[in-house]
Amino acid sequence: MTHDQPLRIEIATPSRPYPVFIGAGTLAHVGAALDGADIGPSRFVVSSPVVWGFWGEPFHQAQPEAVPIIVPDGERHKTLGGVGRIYDALLKGGADRSSALLAFGGGVIGDMGGFAAATYMRGIRLVHVPTTLLAQVDAAIGGKVGVNLPGGKNLVGSFYQPSAVVIDPGVLTTLPRREFRAGLYEVIKYGAVCDASLFEQVGRDLGPLTRRDPAALAPVIAACCRVKGAIVAADEREAGRRRVLNFGHTVGHALEAGTKYKRLLHGESVAYGMLAACSIAAARGALAAADRDTIAAAIAQLGPLPPVNDLSAAAPLELMRHDKKVLEGRLHFVLPTGIGMSKIVTDVSEAELLRALRDLGLGE
Ligand SMILES: NC(=O)c1ccc[n+]([C@@H]2O[C@H](COP(=O)([O-])OP(=O)(O)OC[C@H]3O[C@@H](n4cnc5c(N)ncnc54)[C@H](O)[C@@H]3O)[C@@H](O)[C@H]2O)c1
Ligand SMILES: [Zn+2]
Repeated sequence: MTHDQPLRIEIATPSRPYPVFIGAGTLAHVGAALDGADIGPSRFVVSSPVVWGFWGEPFHQAQPEAVPIIVPDGERHKTLGGVGRIYDALLKGGADRSSALLAFGGGVIGDMGGFAAATYMRGIRLVHVPTTLLAQVDAAIGGKVGVNLPGGKNLVGSFYQPSAVVIDPGVLTTLPRREFRAGLYEVIKYGAVCDASLFEQVGRDLGPLTRRDPAALAPVIAACCRVKGAIVAADEREAGRRRVLNFGHTVGHALEAGTKYKRLLHGESVAYGMLAACSIAAARGALAAADRDTIAAAIAQLGPLPPVNDLSAAAPLELMRHDKKVLEGRLHFVLPTGIGMSKIVTDVSEAELLRALRDLGLGE
């Protein structure tokens, strides 16, 4: 992969088709990529002090005309207040309906900047330039934008597709190791339920991937974007098929919320959630024990997860009763049925959930 030839993937959502450019060095060509995607000259970039500190200079060189708007990131800043700061800066900088907002950061900047773009003057163009592995394989694709309320995560938002996504795996070199690994669990998620060859590729290239070699990362990120892109194109507003991407997320969210978002990163909680879903599927006979072990080994080889064996199963169980994925009283649960295959069931019982949580090491 050279930066002269980034991979280009088309995401064909009904509301808006858009290109995703992926390759080492694409950051240096972000301006040209946007010119090619027909983005006008009035450009603003929203980023965080951390991301701008590491990558602001090369970004500025590639896109000197983009006016920087620096806001704090981190989950507790993903609020309407944060969006308000972006609106203020856009207004002050003279942004109008022809302007574009580039969201340059992790999922927090992408969700918050995306929501600002979706709503400022009833919507201006949005370009995602994601800088965490999680944002590159997940948050930047698919059009979900929004913020948290004091009462819960992601409670305000919209579906708003970007006009382009520019992914440079080179920026991942400065990501804290734990954040990088958390993103790799989401990569394993795509492979485990949607794409057996991606799953195998991660196992095969684990060395270069964990060394963050952009040449190894680019095709893996591209495979994830293809999987997610195909699914969101078929089900933009999560009425059906898109739910398969919730593999590991039912139990994952319950563990994440049950520990007040302090102990586990999102990807780590998803790793636990995938293990739980595998154990439920295997106990039902829906997943061969050998496939369960293969998925568990793929998760284990990334390193130890923060422990959860001092937790009680009661809090996550209660949270699952109120999960967003409960529709008409039924919990929609993604069960793997083989490597790269899955099905959605609505009859997972509390007894099965409890047993799976115990398998993870949780107590009474
Ligand atoms: N919209 C979606 O479809 C979607 C999907 C998944 C997750 N999300 C959202 O994404 C958010 C999580 O995103 P995240 O995991 O990227 O977290 P994040 O945006 O909080 O970033 C994690 C940390 O990494 C730092 N960082 C970012 N890029 C860096 C880089 N290149 N080098 C060094 N440090 C860097 C950030 O400053 C931050 O401290 C959550 O709010 C979640 O709800 C959205
Ligand atoms: Zn996730």
